[in-house]
Amino acid sequence: MSRCRVCGVRHPWQLDDAVHFLNHGSFGATPRKVLERQSELRATLESNPVRFMTREYEPRLDQARDELARFVGARPQDVVFVNNATTGVNAVLRSLKFEPGDELLTFDHAYNACVNALRFVAERSGARVVVAQVPFPLMKDEFFIDAIRERVTARTKLVLLERITSPTALVLPIDALVAELEGRGIPVLVDAAHAPGQVPLHLEHTKASFTTGNLHKWVCAPKGSALLHVREDWQSRIHPTTISHGANSPRSDRSKFQLEFDWVGTDDPTAYFCVPTALATMGGLVAGGWPALMERNREDALEIRQRLMHVLPQELSPAKFVGSMASIVVPGATRALSDRLLREFAIEVPVFQFGDRAVLRVSAQRHVREQDVEALVDALRKTVPGARGAA
Ligand SMILES: Cc1ncc(COP(=O)(O)O)c(C=O)c1O
Repeated sequence: MSRCRVCGVRHPWQLDDAVHFLNHGSFGATPRKVLERQSELRATLESNPVRFMTREYEPRLDQARDELARFVGARPQDVVFVNNATTGVNAVLRSLKFEPGDELLTFDHAYNACVNALRFVAERSGARVVVAQVPFPLMKDEFFIDAIRERVTARTKLVLLERITSPTALVLPIDALVAELEGRGIPVLVDAAHAPGQVPLHLEHTKASFTTGNLHKWVCAPKGSALLHVREDWQSRIHPTTISHGANSPRSDRSKFQLEFDWVGTDDPTAYFCVPTALATMGGLVAGGWPALMERNREDALEIRQRLMHVLPQELSPAKFVGSMASIVVPGATRALSDRLLREFAIEVPVFQFGDRAVLRVSAQRHVREQDVEALVDALRKTVPGARGAA
């Protein structure tokens, strides 16, 4: 039997035992304990929906927000819950006004749904989306920073960046660049969909005007939980995509920003209310809590990447760009490889089209086991022509 190098355990999760699950990144996976808490909360809700949705709603939301704010290093008054990062990005972009000739800058690794939102607001105002090209693999900070900087002009009115990219799984060095752009009066929207739970965050000190991040991915909260952090000077100008009671609320005990986002119509709020349980559950999985969990996932991602590189030799981005995910180019492949790996080898792993290349992205989380990694390595040898050690 081979040595256990990636030593995850499945029992805290209810993942299908028949599947090698290497795609935590797309939708996360919620541990049993958190789902049990959500079931309890739903039972309480349904025992008296009026009590839960009126009298208990706000105290429960505030408690969840306080714990979340502590986790992401933010002031609670600057944080609201949204269903997902796409909603967070849309709320910001659709609140802003652009003029014909304005430029909205992003880059070629950015997530398609969010670039679509950028295009939508650009088209309706006559603005233009500018897409900077960033190399992959990324070998140096400057190759990213300079690529963005070079496309900034006097007409740039907003920059959409990502903390961690999706297909290419790069943890980007955005802090100094964000500070520079904001210092030049250009607001930055940070799509940090993958960041909470994957890298430490200190949002109170971020210079970014806006940051959104999912909680259902790496915090492992139930689906439909994300945060939107808006710097105080912007809060009166940012509205949810759904206008509801908060818009004309006479209340003055909290900001209009929170009043508007905290209630966007009847919905199941239990995913938000489970965030404290998710933080405690995941933080309790390894000795050393969250910092140790993030570091361990990162070590696993690097280990898996190394093993894949032996099969598909290629130049890799330096380890500093790796978090809990790693992407590797699969020569000659297409996205169809992902379906084949599931069908023939019971491996759930995404293969994205990035430009003219296919990139396979692995996720490391505590449920990923040695046998899952071995299965992938073996399957790539069997399916990718020219793979090293191919049968
Ligand atoms: C970088 C990035 N932004 C936004 C999203 C969208 O997340 P959601 O579907 O939860 O809104 C994703 C999802 O994977 C992502 O990777």
